[in-house]
Amino acid sequence: MKAGSVSQLSPVLKQATPVVAVRGEGLHLYDAEGRRYLDFTSGVGVTSTGHCHPRVVEAVREQAGRLIHGQYTTVLHDQLLTLTERLGEVLPTGLDSLFYATAGTEAVEAALRLARHATGRQNVIVFEGSFHGRTMGAASLTTAGTRFRAGIGPLVPGVAVAPFPAAFRLGLSEAEAVEHALRGLDEVLATVSAPAETAAMFVEPVLGEGGYVPAPPGFLTGLRERADRHGILLVVDEVQSGFGRTGRFWAHQYEDSALRPGGFRPDVLITAKGLASGFPLSAIAAPAELMGRAWPGSQGGTYGGNPVACAAALATLDVLREERLVENAAEQGVRLLDGLRTAAAEAPGIADVRGLGLMAASEFCHPDGTPDPDAARHAQQTAAEHGLLLLLCGIHLNVVRMIPALVVTAEQIDEALELWTKAVTAGSR
Ligand SMILES: Cc1ncc(COP(=O)(O)O)c(C=O)c1O
Repeated sequence: MKAGSVSQLSPVLKQATPVVAVRGEGLHLYDAEGRRYLDFTSGVGVTSTGHCHPRVVEAVREQAGRLIHGQYTTVLHDQLLTLTERLGEVLPTGLDSLFYATAGTEAVEAALRLARHATGRQNVIVFEGSFHGRTMGAASLTTAGTRFRAGIGPLVPGVAVAPFPAAFRLGLSEAEAVEHALRGLDEVLATVSAPAETAAMFVEPVLGEGGYVPAPPGFLTGLRERADRHGILLVVDEVQSGFGRTGRFWAHQYEDSALRPGGFRPDVLITAKGLASGFPLSAIAAPAELMGRAWPGSQGGTYGGNPVACAAALATLDVLREERLVENAAEQGVRLLDGLRTAAAEAPGIADVRGLGLMAASEFCHPDGTPDPDAARHAQQTAAEHGLLLLLCGIHLNVVRMIPALVVTAEQIDEALELWTKAVTAGSR
């Protein structure tokens, strides 16, 4: 072999585990030696129907034999049209116009463009701990850690940051945290970003990378009220929390039932990840009238709405409904959170357990209440050694999250809890 002909992966990619996967099935990943891992990461919440669900595999195989690429600003294709129709069954009423991209971050960019076009305003408000992606616009909306922003500036200007009601971190009750956050938002509107210059607020109904913090009841409604009062668009980023993950089809629907059904509606909804069970597909949904205010031809992309990814999304929708996976996420989510609380009772380093459906997390702190990222990492690595794959999150990376596929069974939840308990009780370093 010629000198210099061997390439390697860039060290910019940081691995959470040393596993090299060669195969996946359901909740499991396998390496070349045949070692089996219980995957409670789902590829960061992507493989909603589990790895290689037979229905998804079949749909993808069939589509790949018919049409792999049908570039959507050149021709339309049947899968895109069918998916657009079918998404109408699950999208909030009125959000009837869809634009597709590939990654979540691209959909965030699309929503940002739309918000600025539609309002003629420039500023955007985001919430502390937000994660919206890694492209420059989305990174500018991201406050989940300087690791996503440092050294790449100048970032896109016009972004103001308001508090998120992270009750545990703030040391407040949920109701107090909501009051604090909404008061903070009002101050941002009074001091930093004038309402008349504010195009949109971008919010995650469950803070994802920022630490798995569900927005307590009342927060989204408070945002809705201010958005309506000032003509600001409310963009709900459901990239991680959507498509059944939290036990409702969309996590923001918890706010609906906290008030009155249909009482809360975003202006723009962003979806990706679980949408296509592992194929790169993302979308934004908005009322047609709002979408019509974007400048024609201002959005596009070579791969958006790819036919194979659309076929995977259609199969995902079928599987979610036929296997009642949203209901399963709600049911298994309760089991998971209960079990995590039991485990935490034996592990003094775990200071908080929280989550919604199958977005569940344990936060590690020192006895004085300061974040303990070393303990979180140790627990996550020990779990991986025991065959349970998990990820970290949180602004201090001191939170271990569990995001199993929606097909997870009670037995698999119990197995994961057993491995987790072993990891955190053996975890006293
Ligand atoms: C809430 C949220 N928005 C946007 C993104 C970006 O998505 P992607 O990594 O597909 O670009 C993520 C990814 O984790 C996310 O959790």
